Amino acid sequence: MALSIIILAAGKGTRMNSPTPKVLHTIGGLALLRRVVNTARQLSADIHVVYGYQGDTVREAMADLPIHWVEQREQLGTGHAVKVALDAMNNAPPSSDKTTDETERGREVAHDTVLVLYGDVPLISFESLRALLALREQHDIALLTAELAEPKGYGRIVRDSAGYVRAIVEEKDATIEQRGIPEVNSGIMALDRTQLAGWMTELRNNNEQAEYYLTDMVEICTRHGGTTAACKVPDAHEILGVNSQWQRTELERYYQQQRAQAYAMQGLGISDAARFDIYGHLTFGKGVFIAANVEIRGDVVLGDGVQIGANSILDNCRIGAETVIKPFSMIERSVVESHCTIGPYARIRPDSHLHHHSQVGNFVEVKKSTIGEDSKVNHLSYVGDTTIGKAANIGAGTITCNYDGRTKHATHIGDQAFIGSGTQLVAPVSIGNRAVIGAGSTITADVPSQSLGIARSAQTHIANWQPKSHTTGNDEANDTTP
Ligand code: UD1
Ligand code: CA
Repeated sequence: MALSIIILAAGKGTRMNSPTPKVLHTIGGLALLRRVVNTARQLSADIHVVYGYQGDTVREAMADLPIHWVEQREQLGTGHAVKVALDAMNNAPPSSDKTTDETERGREVAHDTVLVLYGDVPLISFESLRALLALREQHDIALLTAELAEPKGYGRIVRDSAGYVRAIVEEKDATIEQRGIPEVNSGIMALDRTQLAGWMTELRNNNEQAEYYLTDMVEICTRHGGTTAACKVPDAHEILGVNSQWQRTELERYYQQQRAQAYAMQGLGISDAARFDIYGHLTFGKGVFIAANVEIRGDVVLGDGVQIGANSILDNCRIGAETVIKPFSMIERSVVESHCTIGPYARIRPDSHLHHHSQVGNFVEVKKSTIGEDSKVNHLSYVGDTTIGKAANIGAGTITCNYDGRTKHATHIGDQAFIGSGTQLVAPVSIGNRAVIGAGSTITADVPSQSLGIARSAQTHIANWQPKSHTTGNDEANDTTP
């Protein structure tokens, strides 16, 4: 049985009130449509996305995905959208992996299934779709449904006494009695491709919205003596759509709680699941603890015993065992080895590598730099394009002046070097092993190892000096320059 998947994504998403096309809004950092395509790809490589509103923007954002794009110029309803996709599929040259034998192909097509998904229903699971396709093997149409406490806005499932689905009634077209039905249509359904194509001609738009409803296929199927069966998803969140910013927010929180729960079940310590956000993938060792409001982005690896302080952001980084990240720190595309202490309020920018037992303290910015084992940069410093050896001490307020207005230059600081507080190292510059720099120096030339480099004006004293007396009635009365 060949499976083709049609993903509907042509709608305008008016209720989002956003300049961004609806299906490009994200859950867990991935666009809604990308999530659906990723799930679909686990079932079939034959994927057709029906696009319309702001199509160029959507296509551009998904350019890396191996999918067929089908334009629906006018949004005349879900049934019409599926028809546009079917027409495109039938006009496309047959895919080469199918047999060219005519009778064989005819037989295959008769058993082909079309699965319809929605670009704005992002959390549909592979397992539920597998169950739906299994059901479809016994019936002409298989539907995914859910029971909702508040079914408002959804199409209702009308069953007969034998339990088969007789019709789907849109809320706008439903009687008061039908509106009381708690079982709703997810919109997701699997149909026989040949039957679907044939029944298309019977779709009418004589309903409240003057649209061609895909859901009318159920009644048409019944009319032709076919059967429609439905299976309920285990968790209704799977079939919830994103139609407003609030629905996106609610689904995001649900998704994040699910991720937090799954990690916690595997042994990750999370202070508060309601204040944990992940936009990517986390790998962690034993005894790891994450405090409140931490954000994980991209691929993050945490070694055994790592502690992440509150309000920190970890973006594509690897943190070694027993390292402590204190609150309000941000680490981006970098490696921090084991037994380090970072923060609070540290910023580690991309391409940095902090070796074992190093320390980076408060209000320190490190960019594209290596900090050697046991070295410390504990207070108020900027370290950029720099390599620091082992057991060096970088005093408070040290600045590497790495930029001359045109290019970046490197700074090297040797093993056990001691940089006094308030030093500027004007790159390119090299400080030798065990060299000492006097506090407040502006170092512009290399400092040999084991020597003292000092570059500041000598202190002078002006005896009996008094500040100028203030002239009153002057506009510049506040000028206290001596
Ligand atoms: C649809 C179902 C309803 C179901 C609900 C679940 C129909 C008639 N109704 O209603 O039974 O409970 O989904 O969320 O199918 N789209 C197109 N082209 C169009 C129209 C829609 O691509 O011409 C796309 C939209 O972008 C969207 C999806 O189809 O992704 C659903 O369309 P929407 O108008 O939101 O349908 P609902 O009224 O929510
Ligand atoms: Ca919808």
